[in-house]
Amino acid sequence: MLRVVQVAALLIAALLLAPIRIGRVNSHEESGEWHCDSDSGIRIKADFKPGIITVDGRVDDWKDVDGSDFPLLPALDPDADKEYNAGKMTLKAVHDGEEAYFMLQVNGNYTYTQGDRSKCASVALMFQISENASYHNMGGCGQEPDACTNQTCQGHEVDIMHFSLGSAIPGRLYGGNPVDNRDGTGDDRFGHLVDLYAWNPHCRFLDGLGPSGNDSTAQNDWQGSWWHSSLIDHSGFIEDDSPYASEGQNGTYYFEFSRPLRTMDHFRQDAQFTIGKSNLLSAAFWYPMDGQPWEGSGHYTISCDWITLDFISGTSPQVTMVARKNPWDVATAFSLLFSVVAFCISIFVGHRISKTNSTTNFVPMDEL
Ligand SMILES: *[C@@H]1O[C@H](CO)[C@@H](O)[C@H](O)[C@H]1NC(C)=O
Ligand SMILES: *[C@@H]1O[C@H](CO)[C@@H](O)[C@H](O)[C@H]1NC(C)=O
Ligand SMILES: *[C@@H]1O[C@H](CO)[C@@H](O)[C@H](O)[C@H]1NC(C)=O
Ligand SMILES: *[C@@H]1O[C@H](CO)[C@@H](O)[C@H](O)[C@H]1NC(C)=O
Ligand SMILES: *[C@@H]1O[C@H](CO)[C@@H](O)[C@H](O)[C@H]1NC(C)=O
Repeated sequence: MLRVVQVAALLIAALLLAPIRIGRVNSHEESGEWHCDSDSGIRIKADFKPGIITVDGRVDDWKDVDGSDFPLLPALDPDADKEYNAGKMTLKAVHDGEEAYFMLQVNGNYTYTQGDRSKCASVALMFQISENASYHNMGGCGQEPDACTNQTCQGHEVDIMHFSLGSAIPGRLYGGNPVDNRDGTGDDRFGHLVDLYAWNPHCRFLDGLGPSGNDSTAQNDWQGSWWHSSLIDHSGFIEDDSPYASEGQNGTYYFEFSRPLRTMDHFRQDAQFTIGKSNLLSAAFWYPMDGQPWEGSGHYTISCDWITLDFISGTSPQVTMVARKNPWDVATAFSLLFSVVAFCISIFVGHRISKTNSTTNFVPMDEL
Protein backbone atom coordinates (compact mmCIF):
# COMPACT_ATOMS: atom_id res chain seq x y z
CA MET A 1 0.00 0.00 0.00
CA LEU A 2 2.75 2.42 1.00
CA ARG A 3 4.58 1.68 -2.25
CA VAL A 4 1.45 2.44 -4.27
CA VAL A 5 1.14 5.78 -2.49
CA GLN A 6 4.81 6.55 -3.08
CA VAL A 7 4.58 5.66 -6.75
CA ALA A 8 1.43 7.79 -7.09
CA ALA A 9 3.21 10.69 -5.37
CA LEU A 10 6.16 10.35 -7.73
CA LEU A 11 3.86 10.23 -10.75
CA ILE A 12 2.09 13.37 -9.60
CA ALA A 13 5.45 15.02 -9.07
CA ALA A 14 6.53 14.00 -12.56
CA LEU A 15 3.31 15.33 -14.07
CA LEU A 16 3.57 18.59 -12.17
CA LEU A 17 7.15 19.05 -13.23
CA ALA A 18 6.71 18.04 -16.85
CA PRO A 19 5.88 21.54 -18.16
CA ILE A 20 8.80 23.04 -16.26
CA ARG A 21 11.35 21.34 -18.51
CA ILE A 22 14.08 20.83 -15.96
CA GLY A 23 15.14 17.52 -17.26
CA ARG A 24 15.17 15.09 -14.43
CA VAL A 25 15.39 17.30 -11.40
CA ASN A 26 12.41 15.49 -9.89
CA SER A 27 13.67 12.33 -8.23
CA HIS A 28 14.87 13.66 -4.95
CA GLU A 29 15.20 10.62 -2.76
CA GLU A 30 17.28 10.66 0.36
CA SER A 31 18.65 7.74 2.27
CA GLY A 32 18.65 7.92 6.04
CA GLU A 33 18.50 10.83 8.44
CA TRP A 34 19.52 14.28 7.29
CA HIS A 35 22.45 15.76 9.12
CA CYS A 36 24.47 18.84 8.35
CA ASP A 37 27.60 20.01 10.09
CA SER A 38 28.11 23.30 8.40
CA ASP A 39 30.53 25.55 10.22
CA SER A 40 32.35 27.13 7.29
CA GLY A 41 31.53 30.61 8.63
CA ILE A 42 32.10 31.92 5.12
CA ARG A 43 30.16 35.03 4.13
CA ILE A 44 30.08 36.14 0.54
CA LYS A 45 30.51 39.86 0.10
CA ALA A 46 28.96 41.65 -2.85
CA ASP A 47 30.88 44.92 -2.92
CA PHE A 48 29.82 48.00 -4.86
CA LYS A 49 31.96 47.88 -8.01
CA PRO A 50 30.15 49.59 -10.84
CA GLY A 51 31.15 49.16 -14.43
CA ILE A 52 33.62 46.31 -14.14
CA ILE A 53 31.65 43.20 -15.12
CA THR A 54 30.56 42.18 -18.62
CA VAL A 55 28.31 39.11 -18.50
CA ASP A 56 30.08 37.15 -21.23
CA GLY A 57 31.36 34.05 -19.41
CA ARG A 58 34.91 35.44 -19.44
CA VAL A 59 36.21 36.11 -15.94
CA ASP A 60 39.29 38.36 -16.35
CA ASP A 61 37.08 41.23 -15.21
CA TRP A 62 36.60 39.48 -11.84
CA LYS A 63 40.30 39.31 -10.98
CA ASP A 64 40.15 42.14 -8.40
CA VAL A 65 37.07 40.71 -6.69
CA ASP A 66 37.62 38.43 -3.71
CA GLY A 67 35.88 35.07 -3.89
CA SER A 68 35.21 32.12 -1.64
CA ASP A 69 36.08 28.49 -2.38
CA PHE A 70 33.68 25.73 -1.44
CA PRO A 71 34.12 21.97 -1.63
CA LEU A 72 31.32 20.45 -3.70
CA LEU A 73 29.52 17.64 -1.89
CA PRO A 74 26.51 15.65 -3.07
CA ALA A 75 23.42 17.65 -2.12
CA LEU A 76 21.50 14.64 -0.84
CA ASP A 77 24.43 12.99 0.91
CA PRO A 78 26.98 15.63 1.92
CA ASP A 79 29.73 13.16 2.77
CA ALA A 80 33.32 14.40 2.45
CA ASP A 81 34.33 11.08 0.85
CA LYS A 82 32.10 11.86 -2.11
CA GLU A 83 33.47 15.33 -2.85
CA TYR A 84 33.56 16.37 -6.51
CA ASN A 85 37.07 15.27 -7.45
CA ALA A 86 38.20 18.01 -9.85
CA GLY A 87 38.33 20.88 -7.36
CA LYS A 88 36.37 23.40 -5.39
CA MET A 89 33.80 25.86 -6.63
CA THR A 90 34.73 29.54 -6.43
CA LEU A 91 31.88 31.96 -5.92
CA LYS A 92 32.12 35.74 -6.28
CA ALA A 93 29.53 38.51 -6.18
CA VAL A 94 29.44 42.27 -6.75
CA HIS A 95 26.73 44.83 -7.39
CA ASP A 96 26.67 48.14 -9.24
CA GLY A 97 23.81 49.75 -7.34
CA GLU A 98 21.20 48.34 -9.71
CA GLU A 99 22.23 44.83 -10.67
CA ALA A 100 23.76 41.98 -8.69
CA TYR A 101 26.45 39.96 -10.46
CA PHE A 102 27.54 36.42 -9.64
CA MET A 103 30.48 34.38 -10.88
CA LEU A 104 30.82 30.62 -10.39
CA GLN A 105 33.99 28.81 -11.38
CA VAL A 106 34.71 25.10 -11.18
CA ASN A 107 37.30 22.83 -12.76
CA GLY A 108 36.03 20.13 -15.08
CA ASN A 109 36.99 18.44 -18.32
CA TYR A 110 35.20 20.02 -21.25
CA THR A 111 32.14 18.09 -22.31
CA TYR A 112 29.24 19.22 -24.45
CA THR A 113 26.44 17.35 -26.16
CA GLN A 114 24.32 19.66 -28.27
CA GLY A 115 20.68 19.49 -27.21
CA ASP A 116 21.23 17.13 -24.27
CA ARG A 117 21.58 19.15 -21.13
CA SER A 118 22.05 16.13 -18.86
CA LYS A 119 25.31 15.46 -20.72
CA CYS A 120 26.56 18.99 -20.14
CA ALA A 121 27.57 20.87 -17.01
CA SER A 122 24.84 22.82 -15.27
CA VAL A 123 24.59 25.23 -12.33
CA ALA A 124 21.92 26.70 -10.11
CA LEU A 125 21.67 29.40 -7.47
CA MET A 126 19.07 29.21 -4.74
CA PHE A 127 18.02 32.08 -2.45
CA GLN A 128 15.78 32.17 0.57
CA ILE A 129 12.67 34.27 -0.04
CA SER A 130 10.64 33.74 3.13
CA GLU A 131 12.21 33.49 6.55
CA ASN A 132 10.93 29.95 7.21
CA ALA A 133 12.38 28.52 4.00
CA SER A 134 15.12 26.04 4.84
CA TYR A 135 18.08 25.17 2.65
CA HIS A 136 17.31 21.50 3.16
CA ASN A 137 14.48 20.35 0.91
CA MET A 138 14.35 23.60 -1.08
CA GLY A 139 12.21 25.55 1.35
CA GLY A 140 11.18 22.54 3.40
CA CYS A 141 7.40 22.74 2.98
CA GLY A 142 6.05 19.43 4.30
CA GLN A 143 3.12 19.24 1.90
CA GLU A 144 2.67 16.44 -0.60
CA PRO A 145 3.16 17.48 -4.23
CA ASP A 146 -0.57 17.73 -4.90
CA ALA A 147 -1.18 19.78 -1.74
CA CYS A 148 1.39 22.54 -2.24
CA THR A 149 -0.23 25.91 -2.74
CA ASN A 150 0.84 29.45 -1.96
CA GLN A 151 -1.29 29.11 1.18
CA THR A 152 -0.35 25.66 2.50
CA CYS A 153 3.36 26.33 1.88
CA GLN A 154 3.40 30.02 2.73
CA GLY A 155 6.66 31.02 4.39
CA HIS A 156 8.73 28.33 2.63
CA GLU A 157 9.42 30.07 -0.68
CA VAL A 158 12.88 29.81 -2.24
CA ASP A 159 14.03 31.47 -5.48
CA ILE A 160 16.01 29.35 -7.95
CA MET A 161 17.98 30.21 -11.07
CA HIS A 162 18.98 27.13 -13.08
CA PHE A 163 21.25 27.30 -16.12
CA SER A 164 21.48 24.06 -18.10
CA LEU A 165 23.87 24.06 -21.01
CA GLY A 166 23.03 22.00 -24.06
CA SER A 167 21.48 24.74 -26.16
CA ALA A 168 23.48 27.71 -24.87
CA ILE A 169 26.33 28.96 -27.04
CA PRO A 170 29.35 29.92 -24.91
CA GLY A 171 29.81 33.64 -24.41
CA ARG A 172 26.22 34.54 -25.38
CA LEU A 173 23.54 35.90 -23.12
CA TYR A 174 20.61 33.76 -21.98
CA GLY A 175 17.82 34.06 -19.45
CA GLY A 176 15.17 36.75 -19.59
CA ASN A 177 14.09 37.39 -23.18
CA PRO A 178 11.17 39.27 -24.73
CA VAL A 179 9.37 36.14 -25.96
CA ASP A 180 9.12 34.35 -22.61
CA ASN A 181 8.67 37.55 -20.65
CA ARG A 182 5.70 38.44 -22.87
CA ASP A 183 4.14 35.13 -21.78
CA GLY A 184 4.72 36.14 -18.15
CA THR A 185 6.88 33.20 -17.10
CA GLY A 186 10.42 32.64 -15.85
CA ASP A 187 11.12 30.34 -18.79
CA ASP A 188 13.98 30.64 -21.30
CA ARG A 189 13.21 28.64 -24.40
CA PHE A 190 16.50 29.62 -26.06
CA GLY A 191 19.23 28.83 -23.57
CA HIS A 192 17.43 27.23 -20.64
CA LEU A 193 18.48 29.73 -18.00
CA VAL A 194 15.24 29.67 -16.06
CA ASP A 195 13.82 31.60 -13.11
CA LEU A 196 11.92 29.35 -10.70
CA TYR A 197 10.53 29.30 -7.23
CA ALA A 198 9.94 26.30 -4.97
CA TRP A 199 8.46 25.21 -1.65
CA ASN A 200 10.14 21.77 -1.69
CA PRO A 201 11.84 19.62 -4.36
CA HIS A 202 8.51 18.34 -5.67
CA CYS A 203 6.80 21.71 -5.71
CA ARG A 204 8.89 23.79 -8.08
CA PHE A 205 7.43 26.10 -10.66
CA LEU A 206 8.59 28.56 -13.23
CA ASP A 207 7.96 32.11 -12.03
CA GLY A 208 4.43 33.07 -13.02
CA LEU A 209 3.05 29.50 -12.94
CA GLY A 210 1.57 27.82 -9.92
CA PRO A 211 -1.04 25.44 -8.56
CA SER A 212 -3.33 28.33 -7.57
CA GLY A 213 -3.18 30.01 -10.95
CA ASN A 214 -0.80 31.89 -13.17
CA ASP A 215 0.50 35.41 -12.84
CA SER A 216 0.95 37.06 -16.20
CA THR A 217 3.20 39.81 -14.81
CA ALA A 218 6.01 37.40 -13.92
CA GLN A 219 9.37 37.68 -15.66
CA ASN A 220 12.63 35.83 -15.97
CA ASP A 221 14.82 38.40 -14.23
CA TRP A 222 18.14 36.62 -14.76
CA GLN A 223 20.77 36.90 -17.47
CA GLY A 224 23.80 34.69 -17.75
CA SER A 225 26.57 33.29 -19.86
CA TRP A 226 29.09 30.46 -19.70
CA TRP A 227 32.60 29.65 -20.87
CA HIS A 228 35.26 26.95 -20.53
CA SER A 229 38.97 27.70 -20.42
CA SER A 230 39.69 25.30 -23.30
CA LEU A 231 37.54 27.33 -25.72
CA ILE A 232 39.28 29.55 -28.23
CA ASP A 233 36.96 32.21 -29.56
CA HIS A 234 38.03 34.42 -32.43
CA SER A 235 34.88 36.04 -33.70
CA GLY A 236 32.03 34.52 -31.71
CA PHE A 237 30.60 31.04 -31.85
CA ILE A 238 27.56 29.90 -33.77
CA GLU A 239 25.59 26.74 -33.06
CA ASP A 240 27.31 24.86 -35.92
CA ASP A 241 30.61 25.18 -34.05
CA SER A 242 29.25 22.88 -31.32
CA PRO A 243 30.80 21.21 -29.35
CA TYR A 244 33.03 24.36 -29.49
CA ALA A 245 36.18 22.57 -28.21
CA SER A 246 37.47 19.04 -28.17
CA GLU A 247 35.90 16.66 -25.70
CA GLY A 248 37.67 15.80 -22.45
CA GLN A 249 40.10 18.74 -22.31
CA ASN A 250 41.06 19.65 -18.77
CA GLY A 251 40.10 23.15 -17.75
CA THR A 252 37.69 25.34 -15.85
CA TYR A 253 34.03 26.15 -16.33
CA TYR A 254 32.94 29.74 -15.79
CA PHE A 255 29.38 30.91 -15.25
CA GLU A 256 28.35 34.54 -14.92
CA PHE A 257 24.94 35.87 -13.95
CA SER A 258 23.24 39.18 -13.33
CA ARG A 259 19.90 40.16 -11.92
CA PRO A 260 18.35 43.48 -10.85
CA LEU A 261 18.53 43.94 -7.08
CA ARG A 262 14.75 44.33 -7.04
CA THR A 263 12.14 42.72 -9.26
CA MET A 264 8.46 43.43 -9.81
CA ASP A 265 7.45 40.04 -8.38
CA HIS A 266 4.50 40.32 -6.02
CA PHE A 267 3.84 36.64 -5.17
CA ARG A 268 7.08 35.75 -3.33
CA GLN A 269 8.64 34.13 -6.37
CA ASP A 270 11.83 36.21 -6.35
CA ALA A 271 14.28 37.00 -3.59
CA GLN A 272 14.80 40.75 -3.22
CA PHE A 273 18.27 42.18 -2.69
CA THR A 274 18.93 45.34 -0.67
CA ILE A 275 22.20 47.23 -0.42
CA GLY A 276 23.38 47.12 3.18
CA LYS A 277 21.37 43.96 3.90
CA SER A 278 22.01 40.23 3.61
CA ASN A 279 20.46 37.29 1.81
CA LEU A 280 20.87 33.55 2.17
CA LEU A 281 21.99 31.55 -0.82
CA SER A 282 23.32 28.24 -2.05
CA ALA A 283 24.88 27.13 -5.33
CA ALA A 284 24.63 23.77 -7.07
CA PHE A 285 26.58 22.05 -9.82
CA TRP A 286 25.66 19.13 -12.08
CA TYR A 287 28.28 17.32 -14.13
CA PRO A 288 28.05 14.20 -16.33
CA MET A 289 30.62 12.16 -14.39
CA ASP A 290 32.47 9.71 -16.65
CA GLY A 291 30.22 10.75 -19.51
CA GLN A 292 27.09 9.49 -17.72
CA PRO A 293 24.12 11.87 -17.91
CA TRP A 294 23.38 13.53 -14.60
CA GLU A 295 20.23 12.96 -12.61
CA GLY A 296 18.32 15.94 -11.29
CA SER A 297 18.99 14.96 -7.71
CA GLY A 298 22.62 14.06 -8.41
CA HIS A 299 23.93 17.56 -7.90
CA TYR A 300 26.70 18.88 -5.76
CA THR A 301 26.22 21.91 -3.53
CA ILE A 302 28.62 24.33 -1.86
CA SER A 303 27.30 23.68 1.65
CA CYS A 304 24.64 21.66 3.43
CA ASP A 305 23.06 24.87 4.72
CA TRP A 306 22.52 28.45 3.61
CA ILE A 307 25.52 30.75 3.03
CA THR A 308 25.15 34.43 3.88
CA LEU A 309 25.53 36.97 1.09
CA ASP A 310 26.12 40.60 2.14
CA PHE A 311 25.34 43.48 -0.21
CA ILE A 312 27.87 46.10 0.83
CA SER A 313 26.92 49.73 0.41
CA GLY A 314 29.09 51.89 -1.81
CA THR A 315 29.80 54.49 0.85
CA SER A 316 33.16 53.45 2.29
CA PRO A 317 35.62 54.60 -0.42
CA GLN A 318 33.29 57.29 -1.83
CA VAL A 319 32.54 58.94 1.52
CA THR A 320 36.19 59.40 2.37
CA MET A 321 36.73 61.08 -0.98
CA VAL A 322 33.80 63.42 -0.36
CA ALA A 323 34.95 64.00 3.22
CA ARG A 324 38.36 65.00 1.93
CA LYS A 325 36.86 67.23 -0.68
CA ASN A 326 34.76 69.32 1.71
CA PRO A 327 37.57 70.78 3.92
CA TRP A 328 39.45 71.48 0.74
CA ASP A 329 36.49 73.55 -0.50
CA VAL A 330 36.44 75.43 2.82
CA ALA A 331 40.16 76.12 2.52
CA THR A 332 39.67 77.44 -1.01
CA ALA A 333 36.90 79.75 0.14
CA PHE A 334 39.04 81.00 3.02
CA SER A 335 42.05 81.70 0.88
CA LEU A 336 39.85 83.51 -1.62
CA LEU A 337 38.31 85.62 1.14
CA PHE A 338 41.76 86.22 2.59
CA SER A 339 43.19 87.35 -0.72
CA VAL A 340 40.20 89.65 -1.35
CA VAL A 341 40.66 91.20 2.11
CA ALA A 342 44.42 91.54 1.49
CA PHE A 343 43.76 93.15 -1.87
CA CYS A 344 41.32 95.65 -0.33
CA ILE A 345 43.78 96.49 2.45
CA SER A 346 46.58 97.04 -0.04
CA ILE A 347 44.39 99.41 -2.10
CA PHE A 348 43.37 101.24 1.08
CA VAL A 349 46.96 101.50 2.29
CA GLY A 350 48.14 102.57 -1.15
CA HIS A 351 45.41 105.19 -1.25
CA ARG A 352 46.32 106.48 2.23
CA ILE A 353 50.00 106.62 1.32
CA SER A 354 49.35 108.42 -1.93
CA LYS A 355 47.08 110.85 -0.03
CA THR A 356 49.34 111.54 2.97
CA ASN A 357 52.62 111.51 1.11
CA SER A 358 51.41 113.13 -2.04
CA THR A 359 54.62 115.13 -2.10
CA THR A 360 56.94 112.17 -1.62
CA ASN A 361 59.17 111.88 -4.62
CA PHE A 362 59.89 108.77 -6.46
CA VAL A 363 62.77 106.85 -4.84
CA PRO A 364 64.82 104.76 -7.23
CA MET A 365 65.15 101.07 -6.26
CA ASP A 366 68.91 100.95 -5.99
CA GLU A 367 68.97 103.68 -3.36
CA LEU A 368 66.91 101.68 -0.85
C1 LIG B 1 39.21 14.58 -16.42
O1 LIG B 1 40.01 13.76 -17.26
C2 LIG B 1 41.05 13.12 -16.55
C3 LIG B 1 41.94 12.42 -17.56
O2 LIG B 1 41.17 11.92 -18.61
C4 LIG B 1 40.44 12.13 -15.54
O3 LIG B 1 41.45 11.48 -14.81
C5 LIG B 1 39.53 12.91 -14.58
O4 LIG B 1 38.88 12.04 -13.69
C6 LIG B 1 38.51 13.72 -15.36
N1 LIG B 1 37.80 14.58 -14.42
C7 LIG B 1 36.47 14.59 -14.32
C8 LIG B 1 35.89 15.52 -13.32
O5 LIG B 1 35.75 13.92 -15.02
C1 LIG C 1 7.61 31.22 10.47
O1 LIG C 1 7.29 30.22 11.43
C2 LIG C 1 6.91 30.75 12.68
C3 LIG C 1 6.72 29.58 13.64
O2 LIG C 1 6.09 28.53 13.00
C4 LIG C 1 5.66 31.61 12.52
O3 LIG C 1 5.28 32.16 13.75
C5 LIG C 1 5.93 32.71 11.51
O4 LIG C 1 4.77 33.46 11.27
C6 LIG C 1 6.44 32.14 10.22
N1 LIG C 1 6.82 33.21 9.30
C7 LIG C 1 6.34 33.31 8.07
C8 LIG C 1 6.85 34.46 7.25
O5 LIG C 1 5.55 32.53 7.59
C1 LIG D 1 -0.96 28.24 -16.30
O1 LIG D 1 -0.07 28.15 -17.37
C2 LIG D 1 0.24 26.82 -17.74
C3 LIG D 1 1.34 26.85 -18.76
O2 LIG D 1 1.15 27.90 -19.66
C4 LIG D 1 -1.05 26.16 -18.25
O3 LIG D 1 -0.77 24.82 -18.63
C5 LIG D 1 -2.09 26.20 -17.15
O4 LIG D 1 -3.31 25.69 -17.64
C6 LIG D 1 -2.29 27.62 -16.66
N1 LIG D 1 -3.17 27.57 -15.50
C7 LIG D 1 -4.22 28.36 -15.36
C8 LIG D 1 -5.02 28.18 -14.13
O5 LIG D 1 -4.51 29.19 -16.21
C1 LIG E 1 -1.80 32.65 -4.68
O1 LIG E 1 -1.70 32.68 -6.08
C2 LIG E 1 -2.84 33.19 -6.75
C3 LIG E 1 -2.61 33.08 -8.24
O2 LIG E 1 -1.33 33.55 -8.62
C4 LIG E 1 -3.07 34.63 -6.33
O3 LIG E 1 -4.23 35.14 -6.94
C5 LIG E 1 -3.20 34.71 -4.82
O4 LIG E 1 -3.31 36.05 -4.42
C6 LIG E 1 -2.00 34.07 -4.16
N1 LIG E 1 -2.18 34.06 -2.73
C7 LIG E 1 -1.19 34.42 -1.89
C8 LIG E 1 -1.52 34.32 -0.44
O5 LIG E 1 -0.09 34.79 -2.29
C1 LIG F 1 43.30 20.89 -14.79
O1 LIG F 1 43.18 22.32 -14.90
C2 LIG F 1 43.18 22.99 -13.67
C3 LIG F 1 43.04 24.47 -13.93
O2 LIG F 1 42.25 24.74 -15.03
C4 LIG F 1 44.46 22.69 -12.91
O3 LIG F 1 44.41 23.32 -11.65
C5 LIG F 1 44.63 21.19 -12.73
O4 LIG F 1 45.88 20.89 -12.13
C6 LIG F 1 44.56 20.49 -14.07
N1 LIG F 1 44.58 19.04 -13.86
C7 LIG F 1 45.33 18.23 -14.62
C8 LIG F 1 45.24 16.81 -14.29
O5 LIG F 1 46.04 18.67 -15.52
